[in-house]
Amino acid sequence: MKLNDCHNVDDFRKLAKKKLPSPIFHYIDGGADDESTLKRNTDSFNKCDLVPNVLTDVSNVDTSTTVLGQKIDFPLFLSPTAMHQMYHHEGEQATARAAEKFGTFFSLSTMGTKSIEEVSNISGGPKMFQLYIHKDQGLTDNLIERCQRSGFKAMCLTVDTIVAGNRERDHRTGFTTPPKLTLESLFSFATHPEWSLRYLMGPKFKLANISHLTKKGSSIEISIMDYINSQFDTTMNWKHAEYAAKKWNGPFALKGVMSVEDAKRAIDIGATAIMISNHGGRQLDGSRAPFDQLETLVEAVGDKIEIILDGGIRRGTHVLKALALGAKACSIGKAYLYALGAGGQPGVERVLQKMKDEITRGMTLMGTRNVNELTKDKIAYR
Ligand code: LAC
Repeated sequence: MKLNDCHNVDDFRKLAKKKLPSPIFHYIDGGADDESTLKRNTDSFNKCDLVPNVLTDVSNVDTSTTVLGQKIDFPLFLSPTAMHQMYHHEGEQATARAAEKFGTFFSLSTMGTKSIEEVSNISGGPKMFQLYIHKDQGLTDNLIERCQRSGFKAMCLTVDTIVAGNRERDHRTGFTTPPKLTLESLFSFATHPEWSLRYLMGPKFKLANISHLTKKGSSIEISIMDYINSQFDTTMNWKHAEYAAKKWNGPFALKGVMSVEDAKRAIDIGATAIMISNHGGRQLDGSRAPFDQLETLVEAVGDKIEIILDGGIRRGTHVLKALALGAKACSIGKAYLYALGAGGQPGVERVLQKMKDEITRGMTLMGTRNVNELTKDKIAYR
C-alpha cells in the first residue's frame, strides 16, 4: 500500500498502521478507557441525513469561510496535536506547510516538537497556538508573548485535559515519550527500521516550546502523561481563562467546552470561539460526542460566539452536516496525523485535498453555492 492508494481517512489510517511502530500508531489511534466516546464521535454523524436541493446552478461553489478572524479556503482546519516529530521526522514542518498550501489554519500545540519561532519561519499561512496552563505561571505569559511576536493569528486554551486520560493501549504497547526501546516495544521498532533509523538519525526529540523553561517533558525520565499530571495546573479556572484571553487580545477559543453553562461563561470572559471537543475521545470516556451536542450549543449561544466542531470528522459530508447545524468550521486531529505518519507533508496534503474535494463535491450535490446556504433545513433525522 502506498500514498496513492489512500482515498479516504481510513486508508491513511491503514498505511500509518503499517509504517509506524505500534506504540506510536496506537498513541494516535487510541482513546480513553473503553474508547466508547472515541467511537461515537464518528458514529454520531450517522444519526441524521443531508437533504439536498437540486436545479440550483452550482457551476460556482465557494467553500471558503471566515473563522477566528481569518478567511480560510474551506471550512476545515488542523486541530492542535502534540509531538509531530514522532509521526514523521519533519514534524510540524510537514503539517504547517501542508496547511499553508491549502489555505487553512495550522495549530501548534504547547507540546509541539517545533517552536513557535520555528513554525513562524516555516509557514506564512494562518496559525493558531494551543495553550495549556502550567503551574509555572510565567510560562503562560511567555508563550502568549512569543505568539504575538511571531505572527500567530489565533489562540486556543485547552480546558479538557486537567489530568491525563486513561489510554490503556499505551500501557499495553509500552508507549513512552520520547519513544524508547522497552521490552514490550522492541519488536515493533525492530520491524519498522525506516521509522526507527529516521528517528535515531534525526534531530533530538524535544518539546520545543517549553524545553528551555523546564527540563521535564524532554527528559527521557518523564512521559507525556506524567508531564501533564505533574506540570499542569489543576487549579485552572475561569480566572486563568479570562487572563489568557485578555492577554492574547485577539481571536481566542476555549477548546473542550461541552455544556451550555460553560459556553455562556466563555462569552463572558471574552472568548470569541468555542471548540466543541472531547479531545478526540482521549480524555473523559463516556462523554458526549461533539456532533450530538452541537445543536444544543448553537441554540444557546450560536449567535454570540463562533462554534467549531472538533472530533470524529472522517468525511467531507460530516463537515457539511456540522455546518448545516450551525458550526462555523470543523477541525481534524487523528485524520491528519494518520496522513502524516503515512507520508509526511505529501500525506497531509493528500488528505487535505481529499477532504476539500469531498466538501466541494458534497456542496455541489447539495445544491449549495456557499457555506451560508448550508442551513438546518438541509438536515433530517430518521
Ligand atoms: C494527547 C495530549 C497530549 O491527547 O493532547 O495526547
